Amino acid sequence: MNRDEIIENLMTDRPAALFGEADRVRRLHVGNAVHLRGLIEFSNVCGRDCIYCGIRRSNHGVARYKMSTGEIFDAAAYAVGLGFKSLVLQSGESGQYSTDEMVALIGRIKQAFGVAITLSMGEKTRVEYAALRQAGADRYLLRFETSCEKLFIKLKPDSVYADRIQCLSWLREVGFQVGSGIMVGLPGQTEEMIADDILLMRELDLDMVGFGPFIPDPNTPLKGVGGGSLGLTLRTLALIRIVMRNVHIPATTAMGTIDPNGRQRALEVGANVLMPNVTPTRYREMYQLYPNKPGLKQAPSDTFETLRALVHSVGRTVATDPGHSLKRSA
Ligand code: 5AD
Repeated sequence: MNRDEIIENLMTDRPAALFGEADRVRRLHVGNAVHLRGLIEFSNVCGRDCIYCGIRRSNHGVARYKMSTGEIFDAAAYAVGLGFKSLVLQSGESGQYSTDEMVALIGRIKQAFGVAITLSMGEKTRVEYAALRQAGADRYLLRFETSCEKLFIKLKPDSVYADRIQCLSWLREVGFQVGSGIMVGLPGQTEEMIADDILLMRELDLDMVGFGPFIPDPNTPLKGVGGGSLGLTLRTLALIRIVMRNVHIPATTAMGTIDPNGRQRALEVGANVLMPNVTPTRYREMYQLYPNKPGLKQAPSDTFETLRALVHSVGRTVATDPGHSLKRSA
């Protein structure tokens, strides 16, 4: 599909054929199994001031927490006990944990449980990424958020677009399976920009693409502006599946936040991953990148069961393998 066709499909108000094709491509290239990745949000301390994000540095209304590496290990053990074969460790971007500390933690989790480990903790140096990979982390998530540099600078006033793209190359070079993605419905974002985002995802040859609707947060400068719609989010998802084929695409929490059936609909138009939140319940309320995140009061075991039921409700099965990249061997 070329850029014009992508734009046309992003704008269509009759997406039935697009959705059908995305579901067909998903079945053919990734099959019926849905991978569950247990998400541990281990710290909301953040040094960045991204204007869309509820845990931005300037948001002094947020109580900050930092789980100890012992607590993170215990949360991982609990998730493994629930049956997860794959864990995602996510935090704000900060120097709160030394590379040595993270290396030791990753080694411990890997040795004890042998599960796949995905990190999502922002921009680091090549040397740091290499050490984390060496320690046994398998995957890294770092969204580029938008491929429009002008929009990027407005949204992330203390970040540099080229640095972020550089980080994505380093992650690949040191041997990670790499995930990136965007937010849909950002203020000032056009369908043309989303088409370019999709083409960049293809160029980066990503193993995983994570994205969701932008949801305005009342405690940020973007309070009161419009957010992303489920319709545009699903059309974007379908197009990513068709253009990228054998890539892992989660039905994200943000999709489930703007519509109670959002994640289910996503599974029906190309998604093949769910990321249940297994953060200890007492920390969840403090990790709100956007308002009304579902499951804040749920125990991790409930979240797991809720999502397992969701998978079955769309006629799919829960994967029993760690769900490594479909493009290159782990
Ligand atoms: N709405 C939707 N997604 C958001 N993120 C951060 N803030 C918001 C928001 N207000 C997303 C960003 C980030 C990911 C961890 O969460 O894309 O990369």
